[in-house]
Parts: sequence; structure tokens; C-alpha cells
Amino acid sequence: MRWILTLISFCAQAEVSRRRIDPSCPDADLGELCDEDCFEKWIKCKDGCLSSSCERQCAGEWTDCYRACPCDELCPNGCENCANPICSCKSPENDPYFKQCLKEARGRLDDCFESCATNNTCYDGCYDVFEDEKSFCPCMEKCPMGCSCDCGFKCQTHVTVLCQGRTDISALPNFSYLISADGSFKISILSGCKIINTEIQLVNSFDAVYGSLATVSAGTESVILCRGRSADCESFNGEKSQSISSTQINHERSCMVEFENAPMIIGSYSPTSNRVEILTSSGWQDTTPHPRQIYSHTCLSVSNGVLTISGILKDDNVWFYTKNVYLLRDDQWAKVGVLQSVYGLASSIHFGDYFLVFDGVQTRNVERALWDGQNITSSMIINKHEGDCYRPIIFESDPDSCIEGCDDFCYY
Ligand SMILES: *[C@@H]1O[C@H](CO)[C@@H](O)[C@H](O)[C@H]1NC(C)=O
Ligand SMILES: *[C@@H]1O[C@H](CO)[C@@H](O)[C@H](O)[C@H]1NC(C)=O
Ligand SMILES: *[C@@H]1O[C@H](CO)[C@@H](O)[C@H](O)[C@H]1NC(C)=O
Repeated sequence: MRWILTLISFCAQAEVSRRRIDPSCPDADLGELCDEDCFEKWIKCKDGCLSSSCERQCAGEWTDCYRACPCDELCPNGCENCANPICSCKSPENDPYFKQCLKEARGRLDDCFESCATNNTCYDGCYDVFEDEKSFCPCMEKCPMGCSCDCGFKCQTHVTVLCQGRTDISALPNFSYLISADGSFKISILSGCKIINTEIQLVNSFDAVYGSLATVSAGTESVILCRGRSADCESFNGEKSQSISSTQINHERSCMVEFENAPMIIGSYSPTSNRVEILTSSGWQDTTPHPRQIYSHTCLSVSNGVLTISGILKDDNVWFYTKNVYLLRDDQWAKVGVLQSVYGLASSIHFGDYFLVFDGVQTRNVERALWDGQNITSSMIINKHEGDCYRPIIFESDPDSCIEGCDDFCYY
């Protein structure tokens, strides 16, 4: 009797795994692969269950999983407008993460070959390792669902860093590089991107050493710039720039950040100040001052708050660099962590549960700090860049951006 039940339940499973995928759907093959993967995950999930509520949960996850497969309910037109990561496997040769994974594996293969000298066994060994690593790349045998697999290669965020030296200080180099968010991958030649002169002029000159700026996305996206050496500010919408109201004091070597849809500017070197101003419909208004007189810091908007990161503080008339990070939340500032390094005129960028700090002119370090929403829980230095750089330009990019070809604006 028991074996009959087993057989029936086995058949029932086999039945459910075969969801009908419309063969005329353009990506039926990926749909089937996806469905198969959801099914396997479900079996694994419910095999680990000891209660019926657990089994129900597994069944719910399974339903969510297959509904999101190409050619199923949420993606009726296959991979067209389908967010499922398996769709990157439609043409992996164009997928930045697939290419990145292969590139990293090839890099290790090259290093391995170089260490072999005349030993042929060693060459074979290198190749075996490469074959194995390759199979874990997104869309390959051991990761057929693309970037969603949690086995081998991590499809992580990458950031481009651009630094242009100053014509008046010849010691500052030009450089640019692409770095993965954990620092494990860097390339230092970015040549395929051009910087195009739009011919559009700001109202006032702007110098990244003294001035502060932030992109504000309320309404139409615009960049708010305040000169620092004067209280003048302007708003640039990508097409034209126009003067807006001036801050109450000059904010020199300050930083600006978007907070609750408005630009906020924090601290100043000259005049020395801990004042924080926020732009309202009736101009710049004071809000809770920073606990310290501060300048050369970088600031970052996080959920329900604003961070200031490192910079220079004043105590008993002495200025000194700090590793401290402060948070403004609910009209109160609090110290929420200490970094490994100090930073001056740095730039920072926030992704989910971590942020990255790229130094300007103090240590040249790049640090990754884990942010749990309340405090910095840990941090580590992940890179050191090759020269000083006032307020590096940083932005998220695909791992393969800007690496091929070079027309007329090239940093090496
Ligand atoms: C050649 O390489 C293999 C694998 O790396 C190693 O086990 C072996 O000792 C090497 N032979 C010589 C002669 O170095
Ligand atoms: C950096 O690039 C700019 C613009 O291309 C150029 O004028 C300057 O000479 C470069 N500086 C150095 C140190 O190479
Ligand atoms: C964590 O952050 C809160 C403010 O968000 C602060 O009051 C507290 O002191 C911090 N704790 C630590 C261990 O830094």
C-alpha cells in the first residue's frame, strides 16, 4: 500500500513540475529551464520541512517562483519586459556579468599559466581550475538561472571613479578606474567613454575644492550648486542653469545632500561653522546644527536621515581629521560609527546595506562600510587610488562599461 502512495505522490510531483509552457512563446526554452529550477527549489524546500506550515510556505515560494518565469503569468511574452534574471541568459555574450565572470576567470588562468614555467602538468591543472570556475558563471551549467544563483560568481555593483587633475597643480594626476563594490575587482584603464562638452555654461564658476553640489530629484531632476567662496547658489537642470537664493552664510568646503526632497548644506571652513541649511520655498533656512564645526567631509543620504562621513573637526581652536560618522535623524545628530581611515574632500555613494567612501586628498583610501540603518557595523579599506583627487566623480556602472575603444578623451 505504502509504495502505491509513494508512486502516486511521485507522479503528482512529476505532473506539477510539467507546467504547460506555450511552445509559441518566444522564450519557451528559458521558461522551461526556469520552471525546472523553481520545481527543484520547491522539492529541496519542502524536504527540509517538519511542519505543514513550513510546507505551505515552500508551496507559496514555489508559486511565486514559477509565476515570474518567462512565458508564465508575470512574463507572458517571454523575456520581453521580464525582470527574471534568467533572461540575461538569452544572449549571455551581451550580459555584463557573464562577460565579467569570464574575464575574471581568464585573468586567474593567465596568472596560473605564468607560474607554470616549463611544467606541462601545471598548465593542465590551471585549465582544469578555469573549466570549473567557468561552469559557475551566470548562465553556465552550475548557474543556469543567471545572476540569481548564490553559488559562485557574485553579480555585484560596480562603480566608476573619475579623477581629473588640476591645471594649476601639476602634481595631481588624471586617472580613472572601475571597481567592484567589494574591491575584489579593479581595472585601471577606462578608455571607451568620452566626456562631451555640452557648451552649456553655469551662471558662476564652480570649484570642487570650495563648492558643494547635490542632485535633487524632487519634481524635475536638477543639480544644486553653491559656490562656497560666496553664498551664491544655482540650479542646473541639464539644459540651463539659473541663480537661486543664496545661503545665509558662505559654506566653504562643506557638503550638500538631498534630504526629504530638498538640498541640505552642512558645515563650513570659512566662516568656521556647524550650521546646517536646507532650501525651502522661502529660501535657505537653518535646521539642527551639526554637533561639531566641520569641513572637508562627505555626506550621504540614507533612509530617514543624512550621514556626514569623516572630514575635519575643530576642538580648542585646533583642526583635526576625524574618522567619525554622524547621522541626522528626527532632528537629532548622533555619532553612529568610526571608519578605518580619515578622508578629506572625498565622495561617497550608498547602496542598500553598505556605502563606499572614495578619498579626495588625504589618504587616497577607498573604504566599504556596512550600514544596518542605525549604525556602522563594520568597515574595511578596499582600495587605494593612485593620486590625490578633489571630490572624485563616482557613479554606478556595468562592469564592462567604458573599457573598449578610445576616441578622444582617454585616461591611462
Ligand atoms: C608540476 O606541477 C604540478 C602541479 O602544479 C606539481 O604537482 C609538480 O610538482 C610540478 N612538477 C615539477 C617538476 O615542478
Ligand atoms: C589631465 O587631463 C587634462 C584634460 O585632458 C589635461 O589638460 C592635463 O594636462 C592632464 N594632466 C596631467 C597631469 O596629465
Ligand atoms: C547607533 O546609532 C544610534 C543612533 O542611530 C546611536 O544613538 C547609538 O549610540 C549607536 N550605537 C553605536 C554602538 O554606535
